[in-house]
Amino acid sequence: MYSEKVMEHFRNPRNVGEIENADGIGEVGNPKCGDIMKMYLKIEDDTIVDVKFKTFGCGSAIASSSMATELIKGKTIKEAMEITNKAVAEALDGLPPIKMHCSVLAEQAIKSALLDYSKKNNITIEGLEDFDPTEDPHDHHEIVEF
Ligand code: FES
Repeated sequence: MYSEKVMEHFRNPRNVGEIENADGIGEVGNPKCGDIMKMYLKIEDDTIVDVKFKTFGCGSAIASSSMATELIKGKTIKEAMEITNKAVAEALDGLPPIKMHCSVLAEQAIKSALLDYSKKNNITIEGLEDFDPTEDPHDHHEIVEF
C-alpha cells in the first residue's frame, strides 16, 4: 500500500524539531482526522536556509512533512510557493488516494509559515493573497463562487 520512500521517510523523518527564533511559523490541522503539523522556517535573502517540522499525525502526514522540508530547503520563497501537495506525493513515489489529504497538510503548512513570515516583515508574497489557514472551507467556496 505504501511506497518504499513513504516508509523510509516515516521511519527516518528529516528535519524534525523546532527552530528557535524562526522567521516564519505555520501551524495547520485537518479537522477531519485531527492531525496537526507545525513548520518552522529560517529565511535569509528570500531563501529558505533552514526548515524544521513537528507533526502530530498519521504516517503519511509525517512522511509528507519530511519530504516537504527536503523539497523547500535551499529554495527561494517563490520556488517554495510552487510546491504543491501533488509534488510532495510524487516525490514520495505516490500516496494511496485516501491518504492524499495528508500531503495537503504539508502544502498548507509551508504556505502558512510563509504567510507568517510575510506578516512579520510586512511584505506580500504572490499567491498568498487569499490564503487563510484558519478559514472555514465552506466560507471559502462561497467567496470563490461569487
Ligand atoms: Fe490525518 Fe493523514 S490521516 S493527516
